[in-house]
Amino acid sequence: MNFHGPALANFESSVFLRACRRQSVEVTPVWLMRQAGRYMKEYRELRAKHSFLELCKNPDLATEVTVTAAHRLKVDAAIIFADILLIVEPLGLDLRFEKGAGPSIGGSIRNAADVKRLREVEPAESLDYVFEAIRRTRAALNPGIPLIGFSGAPFTLASYMTEGGASKHYRHTRALMHGEPAAWHRMMEIISRGLIKYLNGQIAAGAQAVQLFDSWVGCLGPEEYQEFVLPHTKMVIEGITPGIPVINFSTGTSGYLELIRQAGGDVIGVDWRVDLAEAWKRIGYGVGIQGNLDPLILYADKQVIRERVRGILKKAAGRPGHIFNLGHGILPETPVDSVLALVEAVHQISAEQESS
Ligand code: CP3
Repeated sequence: MNFHGPALANFESSVFLRACRRQSVEVTPVWLMRQAGRYMKEYRELRAKHSFLELCKNPDLATEVTVTAAHRLKVDAAIIFADILLIVEPLGLDLRFEKGAGPSIGGSIRNAADVKRLREVEPAESLDYVFEAIRRTRAALNPGIPLIGFSGAPFTLASYMTEGGASKHYRHTRALMHGEPAAWHRMMEIISRGLIKYLNGQIAAGAQAVQLFDSWVGCLGPEEYQEFVLPHTKMVIEGITPGIPVINFSTGTSGYLELIRQAGGDVIGVDWRVDLAEAWKRIGYGVGIQGNLDPLILYADKQVIRERVRGILKKAAGRPGHIFNLGHGILPETPVDSVLALVEAVHQISAEQESS
């Protein structure tokens, strides 16, 4: 042990966790959804040797991918390398990632009889590989950097489980919701109970915050959200270990952000289709906000990126509780240099605004 060196920074005083708690920060924290992925050479090299699910299920490799991305990008939080869909396996479904085609799920749930086939998730057994990856990542990561755990939110998981994959109209999801509402609610309850255990297990293993990804819930209107989704998401968020910040992220929901806020979360994640200043005003300053750069801006030149960053920081107006992020996951062809420029711009411009 080194008794003479400076004390290592602890994640408790990190700008990310302070922003989650709406405390003041000297620079705006930034991290990016899917910050570890195909746009990085280091990731592609590992992917040439292992399938995506192999990477997720091998705690040493998942640790390597998580830590490499966070340290290289100099972001203010790491997110454990995993996928929002891993929980569908212990729910009793078959999960595959076909090359270039996205996730595909076998054994779709389309009626009450199918819902009966679902199993209660016992993550201590079935998802221990995620917990182990979190334990190893926490040990390998710079101690000043918080680690985010995550999963899909109940609706987004249910949509994949009924459709069997990505979907344009969510026809089967809506057919179950409206045709057999009792079965729909039973499915959402089974998913939600599993999610509470899974996310709390990630926290016990060493995650400092958790994010729920409701990536596709924006296909619903406000009444459907309120009746068929909100109570379940709310139950999950209320079940999270007290004191651990929850980020409630969704896309395409600018028509009913007030309802998203009602579902809960310390921080609400918003996409770029809504003006950040307006979104924050609508959800109220009693909650943090995360976002909201269009991921496509990372294809533009660095001057454009800087200007967009400046614009978003201006909308946040230096209020405590803003976490900079994209409005959705980073895309595979994004230049790494542009991501580095983005992170630097957020830190530099927010520090200038803070001291002006
Ligand atoms: O952020 C991180 O770095 C942590 C890991 C992470 C992944 N996916 C790894 C991944 C996170 C947080 C996600 C979230 C996720 N997964 C979402 C929500 C956010 C978003 O950007 O949409 C969704 C909808 C999924 C489901 C999923 N998994 C999709 C749609 C895909 C892409 C399929 C494709 O080929 O484009 C995946 C696969 C996936 N998840 C990859 C990674 C790095 C790519 C897998 C590969 O290497 O081929």
